[in-house]
Amino acid sequence: MSFPPELVPVLYHPSVREQEQPVINSVLLQRLHIYLDFTADLEQLVVTPVTQLISRRRSGFDLPAEMLRDSYKICTDEAWHAQFSDDLQAQLVTATKESPLSSGEPFFLTRLHAVKSTMDSSLRPLADLFFTVVSETLISSILSGIPKDRQVFTAVRETVADHAEDEGRHHAFFARFFEIAWPQLTLSQQELVGALLPEFVVAFLRPDTAALGRMLQPTGLPADAIRAVIEETYPPARVEADMRAAAAATLRLCERTGVFTSGRATEAFHRCGLLS
Ligand SMILES: [Fe+2]
Ligand SMILES: [Fe+2]
Repeated sequence: MSFPPELVPVLYHPSVREQEQPVINSVLLQRLHIYLDFTADLEQLVVTPVTQLISRRRSGFDLPAEMLRDSYKICTDEAWHAQFSDDLQAQLVTATKESPLSSGEPFFLTRLHAVKSTMDSSLRPLADLFFTVVSETLISSILSGIPKDRQVFTAVRETVADHAEDEGRHHAFFARFFEIAWPQLTLSQQELVGALLPEFVVAFLRPDTAALGRMLQPTGLPADAIRAVIEETYPPARVEADMRAAAAATLRLCERTGVFTSGRATEAFHRCGLLS
């Protein structure tokens, strides 16, 4: 099996559940391709550029020397995560004779670009930096779930288990980075970044409906039925609850760093459904 079915909620929708096993297998394979594309895009286009800047003292923040050294290591880790994700995709195509269905830009990247386009160009590097902090401190159910599922191909499980081990270290690095960088922001930068943080959580965690639509193509369902499957699987209350659970550590980090002393940030977290 390519991907743990329990991590693909649309499979439990009545219109999908009744499909033959080969169709379900194709959907799971497409789910894995989406995840691997997402990973390679995140690492190559966002996290690696940010850690390059940190390692070369160009992040705009004063950081302890050991953090600069660690950022080189993270850069290497992330480049490797992207490379093995891409390599695994090529192996999957050879083994299954099924290609990934046209991969579009993942939702998180579209949102990050949209947010940056509204910002003054001098402040855009802050968006990349703090988007990275958010993405590296969220808890990924995929990273922890795939290695545990013995039905999943060994190559996939082992690859994801290696990735999960690295991300544990990265989480600690970026939490520390945030604690050190936040007090170095000016008050107006704190207001700006504080309001962006929940946007980034949503960009990262909200179900990517375009990708889910492509994933469901093997079912042969018409477009409106696919839309209904996605909408009925992800009612807003479920999306909010899932986001809060995955963002719990990030929210605690914001709390102890003092992000919520800003009214604008707190209001944005409420608006995004991350605080009640
Ligand atoms: Fe990674
Ligand atoms: Fe990472």
